[in-house]
Amino acid sequence: MLIDGVSRLTVPPERAARAVRRFADALDATGLDDILDCITPMDSSPASVERLGRELRRPLARALDLLVLGEAVAPDELPADLRRALDEVLEEPDGALLRTKPDGTWILTPLSLYRAFGFWYLAHSPHPASTAYFGDDSLALASRLDHRARSVLDLCAGPGIQSLRCAARGQRAVGVEINPAVAWMAQVNARVVGVEDLVEFRVGSLYAAVDETERFDLICANPPLLPIPVGFSYPFIGDGGPDGLTITRQVLEGARQHLTEHGLIQMLGMTLSDGFRPQCVPELEELADREKLQIGLIAVRHERAGQGSVWCDGVATTALAADGTPPGPELRIASDELAQGYLDLGASHVVYYFLTARPGEPEVRYHDLSQASRSIWTV
Ligand SMILES: C[S@@+](CC[C@H](N)C(=O)[O-])C[C@H]1O[C@@H](n2cnc3c(N)ncnc32)[C@H](O)[C@@H]1O
Repeated sequence: MLIDGVSRLTVPPERAARAVRRFADALDATGLDDILDCITPMDSSPASVERLGRELRRPLARALDLLVLGEAVAPDELPADLRRALDEVLEEPDGALLRTKPDGTWILTPLSLYRAFGFWYLAHSPHPASTAYFGDDSLALASRLDHRARSVLDLCAGPGIQSLRCAARGQRAVGVEINPAVAWMAQVNARVVGVEDLVEFRVGSLYAAVDETERFDLICANPPLLPIPVGFSYPFIGDGGPDGLTITRQVLEGARQHLTEHGLIQMLGMTLSDGFRPQCVPELEELADREKLQIGLIAVRHERAGQGSVWCDGVATTALAADGTPPGPELRIASDELAQGYLDLGASHVVYYFLTARPGEPEVRYHDLSQASRSIWTV
């Protein structure tokens, strides 16, 4: 098989992309591209695909289960034309994304082929231990990126959605990703989307992968963003440090050197709050002064993070599942440990926010839109 997970770094991205393209062509032939394009761009996450699947006839719904949700599906549950097309893909000498399990079912996982902004996009299937991430936050940031920027630096690029979105509308993008296997997947995606001439993915940590003379009109980042107290074990791609801001600080502090005169920083994240105001506002004010930045911070949702909260239970469930611990009494212990961690940090809530910053008169403008919150990243 050509791409199993993201381990096949020795396969040139061009070759892998050809295999993915063939697979995508088979999907296009069934009209699945048109169906998935009906989901609003801000919301084409796996959860929305699952909702859409409930509205479709069973064969098409099963196609979504296979493609996006990472489930094993028996070939005869799929629409006949898709089954025939995928059967041919399986015959390809290079192999393809699809595997046949010993029980005869087909499975794509650990990868999914998602649909966003009119293109197919390869990332990990929804899984607590995924390293090639794609989720609501990926889309929330990609959907709001400034279209006027001619050059874009995408830090914490993952499989590349923000860079690809920009390149697909003609902007030049450099994506920086610390995990080489994930950067390789982004290079495959660039070829699947057909924007390899406009986007470059580099392996490295933040600005260390950027020449000191390089300047960009837009710097964007969807960093590891969850507030995770010290001592609580959580997967790397989500662990934003105790207040969720470990990487965010580094992005903001290094930005001035790499921004053009009228450049813009666009990020999103989560941090600690009291249910009304993020704890970090005074620190951001100091940072704004130091870096001569005008910072806009918009809270879109405050989520209770105390004992027994949905938030703590959810984070604890993911943390345990990523470690391979089956659901059981450990969940209560881990969830309470997390809630105590937040309490020790003086927080009763976590807050979802969007952040913009641009060179200018130092200030922090804070808006709280959380009363109008609809889903986690939208009002
Ligand atoms: C939440 S994911 C976001 C991926 C993608 N941008 C998206 O929105 O779907 C964070 C990504 O940052 C990468 N990362 C973490 N620390 C990094 C660093 N210091 N430099 C570059 N990438 C980093 C992780 O490997 C992961 O792929």
